This record gives sequence, structure tokens and C-alpha cells, in this order.
Amino acid sequence: MAQSILFVCLGNICRSPLAEGALQAAARDGEATLEIDSAGTGSWHVGHPPDGRARAVALANGVDIGAQRARQVRAADFDMFDHIVAMDRSVLNDLKALQPSGSSARLSLFLDHVAGREGEDVTDPYYGEDEGFATTWDDVTKGAEALLAAIIRS
Ligand code: 4NP
Repeated sequence: MAQSILFVCLGNICRSPLAEGALQAAARDGEATLEIDSAGTGSWHVGHPPDGRARAVALANGVDIGAQRARQVRAADFDMFDHIVAMDRSVLNDLKALQPSGSSARLSLFLDHVAGREGEDVTDPYYGEDEGFATTWDDVTKGAEALLAAIIRS
């Protein structure tokens, strides 16, 4: 059966779209069948494509995330997805508060899946310089590979 995974950040225009794109790319050639999506806890950017700097760094690495559109996380996600992965600890705390009791999704912190990076946040690059997006791309590709190995193939 296909496994499903939802990445969640604040705006759904920088980090979680990059995580979605990186995992799509990592899973493309493998045997795993995955449903992958992303969302934000905030509603500011609903319906918008990813930030241009996020689109550019993904494209520079061979991944086109331009067709994604931001949406806000909703209660149904906690039953629709097997895994909901928060890009930072603040988002994880918000998700824990939003999670309906008895829902089935397993919540985790993105970098908890990467050996040696446990407990760390994927830094929000939105207000920073372009270089921050390269760091985000590095983080999300490491996490995507680790998730593919640890969650999906387990
Ligand atoms: P993201 O970055 O959570 O990685 O998508 C942000 C994008 C927009 C805002 C905050 C974070 N914002 O406040 O508009």
C-alpha cells in the first residue's frame, strides 16, 4: 500500500515545498510508492506558488516545484496521511495542538530523521539571503534520503 507523507512549515512557500520536491525526486527512481504533499500552519500564502528563491534552488538541482500551490494544514490531514513531518519545533508544537484526538498520523520533526541532526530546526530562509535557500536545499535532500530509507522502506 502507498505510504503518505505531509511536510508542514509556516507559510508553505519555502521549506515544506522544497522537502516535497526533494522527496518526490528521491522517490522517483525507487520502488517506493509514495503520496507526498506539503502544507503550512499559516494562511498568508494560500494558493500561491513557492517563493521564487525556493523554485530557483530546486530547479538548479534538477527539480521543478513550480506547479505546487500553498495550502493550510487541516484536521482531515491527520487521518489522511501516515506521516506528518514538521520542518521546525515551533511548527511541530502547533501540529500537536491541532491534532484531533484519536487521529492516526504519526508526527515527527524533519531533522530527527537525519543522524546527528536530531532536535534541529530546518532554518526558515524566508527573511534571509539567497544562500539560506541553498542550506535549506541541503537539509531537505538529506532528510528526504533518510525518510526514504527509514520510514518508507521499513
Ligand atoms: P516557510 O517560510 O514556512 O518555509 O514557507 C515562510 C514563508 C512566509 C512566511 C513565513 C515563513 N510569512 O510570514 O509570510
